[in-house]
Amino acid sequence: MLRNSDNQDRLRHHHADLLIKGGMVATPNGLEMTDVACLDGQIVSMHATGWMADDVIHAKGLHVLPGVIDTQVHFREPGLVHKENFEAGTRGAVLGGITTIFEMPNTSPLTITGEDLLGKLEMATGKGWCDFAFYMGGSDANAERLAELELLPGCAGIKVFMGSSFGDLLAEEDEVLSRILRHGKRRLAVHAEDEARLRERRAIVEASGDVRDHPVWRDEISALRATQRIVSIAQACGRRLHVLHVSTADEMAFLAQHKARVTVEVLPQHLTFCAPECYERLGTLAQMNPPVRDAHHQAALWEAVRDGTVDVLGSDHAPHTLAEKAKPYPQSPSGMPGVQTLLAVMLNHVNQSKLSLERLIDLTSAGPARVFGIESKGRLALGYDADLVLVNLSTRCIITNQSMANVSGWTPYDGMQVTGWPIATVLRGRCVMRDDEMIGLPSGRAVRFLEVPRLVVRQ
Ligand code: DOR
Repeated sequence: MLRNSDNQDRLRHHHADLLIKGGMVATPNGLEMTDVACLDGQIVSMHATGWMADDVIHAKGLHVLPGVIDTQVHFREPGLVHKENFEAGTRGAVLGGITTIFEMPNTSPLTITGEDLLGKLEMATGKGWCDFAFYMGGSDANAERLAELELLPGCAGIKVFMGSSFGDLLAEEDEVLSRILRHGKRRLAVHAEDEARLRERRAIVEASGDVRDHPVWRDEISALRATQRIVSIAQACGRRLHVLHVSTADEMAFLAQHKARVTVEVLPQHLTFCAPECYERLGTLAQMNPPVRDAHHQAALWEAVRDGTVDVLGSDHAPHTLAEKAKPYPQSPSGMPGVQTLLAVMLNHVNQSKLSLERLIDLTSAGPARVFGIESKGRLALGYDADLVLVNLSTRCIITNQSMANVSGWTPYDGMQVTGWPIATVLRGRCVMRDDEMIGLPSGRAVRFLEVPRLVVRQ
């Protein structure tokens, strides 16, 4: 619905705010060479021949894709802004072709109450370069209030850490997990590593001090055990799940049998880096949870991308400063930046025929929209938000630390050449990035969800 009669008039006279001309567009009918017209933040024509516009982007030679929805980032604000902040995080997102992010609750304070969420929404307004939503952390402390909390406007849903990673948010016992899952209806996102087993095996890395043992400590059994436990508890509670950053062949085989109610995310890091090589080359920069594993697991993740077990690609953008990462392992924190490089790294995989462009589009836009019930986003179609990314599939670029927007100032891909690059990002009909330069001011707003009342705060 266009918001006022002025815009209705402009629509009648085929006068758009923005026209994207001559690109190869990912339409609902497949890739088509066509012109896209955007008016009042929405797509109003997919075949806009003869339209006028205030602003025109000539997209000849480019592919026009739905803006990427990254449903797993840690932007560290409030409380940990020496690592990352919301402005820099969303700027990196937009530079990388991302138009929507969901941010994680392990900030300081944690996001576990309505006030915490509102605080984040207020903080983000005026700082966010892209649209956003925030996860509510699920724990022993707020389990009984989650049914209410998950329905707050701007809430992406509930996130549970079964294994401790970074920050104090943890729900490890079946009894607590069951209480969390019994309160609420929305799909719940989970970090599945078995805390008891991680505790038991921590001595391995305390003794060796060798980052190559990171996937030995946090082994495939730790991941599988947690995933099996949470799927079984969710089944008993009649609840849908989203298993974040699945990293093992064993979990993929198990999850493939539970697709009716369980959706699956993988990360570019797990699809690109391989143990032990990445630990030898990058040291603790390659340290993350769940860990980057060996070629056997990586091959299974790729297979799951291609056969449809995987629903979503997320970045798990989780910066720590280089000084923090330089601490001796295992005191070094786990996590690496990735929001700005997600699309470029995956386009490079498309160029290397690891997956098709259509599959990548599904994993980065339609997939997240379907999994989380996002309103008006996730596809280029009439009446949808005009969130787009224009990419050149043959541009060669070298990813460097210097080009990263993140506060910590680094990327694990420093020095890597990729083929395929985001050239422009459009957020609700406004071009916010062109040729690696930001345009205008941050205008991101809270995402709306199909089953959640609308946000009443001023946007
Ligand atoms: O490696 C990780 N780092 N995994 C997580 O789940 C959390 C993240 C962080 O916040 O640093």
